[in-house]
Amino acid sequence: MITIKSEREIELMRHAGMLVSKMHKFIKPYIKEGISTYELDKLCEEFIRENDAVPTCKGYEGFPATLCTSVNSVVVHGIPDKKTKLKNGDIITIDVVIGYKGYQGDAAWTYAVGEINDEKKYLMEHTEKALYEGIKKVKPGNRIGDISHAVEEYATSHNLGVVRELCGHGIGREMHEDPEVPNYGIENTGPRLKPGMVICIEPMLTYGKRDIEILDDNWTVVTRDKKPAAHYEHTILVTENGYEILTPRLD
Ligand code: MF3
Ligand code: CO
Repeated sequence: MITIKSEREIELMRHAGMLVSKMHKFIKPYIKEGISTYELDKLCEEFIRENDAVPTCKGYEGFPATLCTSVNSVVVHGIPDKKTKLKNGDIITIDVVIGYKGYQGDAAWTYAVGEINDEKKYLMEHTEKALYEGIKKVKPGNRIGDISHAVEEYATSHNLGVVRELCGHGIGREMHEDPEVPNYGIENTGPRLKPGMVICIEPMLTYGKRDIEILDDNWTVVTRDKKPAAHYEHTILVTENGYEILTPRLD
């Protein structure tokens, strides 16, 4: 069931989304060579708790941390740890879900560590643009398939691989609600968008083939060919005449 949020619920989701945006802004200056993903996680957990909010991923189906920290060929769900230290030339996706008074905000973006190569720059630039191509389709009357198709079309026309095993989702009281929002699909299919729906759009694109595997920790999703992957995600409210990004970038 796809829920329609009331004005009050939307206000709380705006707040949760803004905390997600602020946390990304807070952590950005720490993303430097030498820091461990564990340290990034601790800093963010503290930031969230100081803002009277909760790190929703922590404990979700046994996930042990506040952030998903996905470096280079890790697509999503990388687990922060003391041994993974950032190096010049890495890319890292920081994905976080924050709960505020029972409502969730969710956003991911990929960061460069120092100087990165042109392949990684290209991947980051076009993964973010693919997300915006999807977001542009959000308005009442359009359908989920319109978003999916726009993301896929942009990604494949830029020769990037579209990971299919994971997708975007509705969000509200729960971090994952209906509908599913795939990053590939057919126009004019799927549920119709209505004002008050809130969805997360989140392309996960690769510089090589789209095939993935899951490591023995049962979380970490990596590209099979070890090529880099990027991931950008926003929480989006469907408004009367379009959309509102609840997790705006503050940088
Ligand atoms: N932010 C992620 C998503 O978009 C998922 C969180 S992973 C988990 O769905 F660890 F919380 F499960
Ligand atoms: Co999400």
